Amino acid sequence: MPLKSKLPQVGTTIFTRMSGLAQTHNALNLSQGFPDFAPPEGLARALGEHAVQGHNQYAPMAGLPRLREAIAGQLALHRKVTVDPEEEITVVPGATEGIFCAITAVVEGGDEVIVLDPVYDSYEPAIALAGGRAVHVPLTAGSFAIDWDRVEEAISPKTKLFMLNSPHNPCGSVVSAADLDVLALLAEKHDFYVCSDEVYEHLVFDGRQHRSVLQHPVLKERSFAHFSFGKTLSVTGWKTGYCVAPPALTAELRKVHQYVAFVAVTPVQHALADFFEAQPRYPVKLASDYERRRDLFLSALSESRFSWTPTAGSFFQLLDFADISDESDTALSERWTREIGVASIPVSVFYENPPTQSVLRFCFAKSDDILLEAAERLCAI
Ligand SMILES: Cc1ncc(COP(=O)(O)O)c(C=O)c1O
Repeated sequence: MPLKSKLPQVGTTIFTRMSGLAQTHNALNLSQGFPDFAPPEGLARALGEHAVQGHNQYAPMAGLPRLREAIAGQLALHRKVTVDPEEEITVVPGATEGIFCAITAVVEGGDEVIVLDPVYDSYEPAIALAGGRAVHVPLTAGSFAIDWDRVEEAISPKTKLFMLNSPHNPCGSVVSAADLDVLALLAEKHDFYVCSDEVYEHLVFDGRQHRSVLQHPVLKERSFAHFSFGKTLSVTGWKTGYCVAPPALTAELRKVHQYVAFVAVTPVQHALADFFEAQPRYPVKLASDYERRRDLFLSALSESRFSWTPTAGSFFQLLDFADISDESDTALSERWTREIGVASIPVSVFYENPPTQSVLRFCFAKSDDILLEAAERLCAI
């Protein structure tokens, strides 16, 4: 009996596809979002030590208490918010799982969820599996700011959840305090929840501040905020993050989490707790480190025919190729992976209705020599 797909539109993700192509053609891989440098000193060693010491069985479902305490300390230190580690923090095996659990906990058959295009690719399949419908609202062309008039037009009595992502992947835009005020007004007026993906929270440049929904008194009461240690500590392969939400929302999220993954990996949680107990201020230096990498990449591109606005946050830089080619971004990213050996991500794949634009996303979480080599090849086009 042929199985009817519940996700007929879904194939291999663009990240898997472009990373595979990069490998086949031995290209510099600036496509998938992961650092090519080592995690902070001592972190990997601590993981091994905890495994050797016997921390190898299931952790408590919501996460190791000592890691949840450390996370509450991080939120107090970096965001000046007080969060109850017992009832409001859940450690999850990657932000992707936390986001899936939040969507599953909230969305019922027939509900609508507002997503902003270009949209991170994990949201819509989770919404569809929960029986909901994603309602796509494009970000403003060029600036990638949120067009709140269009958001309000898209809200209906069925709107249950709003997906926010700041710093934004793939665009690198960041929301302002004013954006959060508007979102709070709309969320109260139309009574919907917010799922806020803040995995790049520490990567915000040029003196800007990250604005978390947890810092907004209205939004904090109706939001799930998601974070990832993978981005902050260059350990994307450890797939560990956490979700912060008020007790009633956390209780529902945990009901799903306990039957999706049940727990995050135990020795990883111990190693992360050790790290933040010893170096609570470590994330503070991330922004300047990544800003330096962004600037190195962009200044090496100064003789190229690309145009750009320096990215405000995340570790992604968009480059506009309108002056170079009128090919589609998907065709061009594949061709340049094969022909010049630099892999990127076409931005059109993150839209329901791609606009006419010509931008590729490049990940600059790479060592200096890779960034310089990639820029040299891009300048030669
Ligand atoms: C916007 C965004 N959200 C979530 C994730 C996933 O985070 P994790 O690896 O912790 O599941 C990523 C990873 O690239 C991302 O870019």
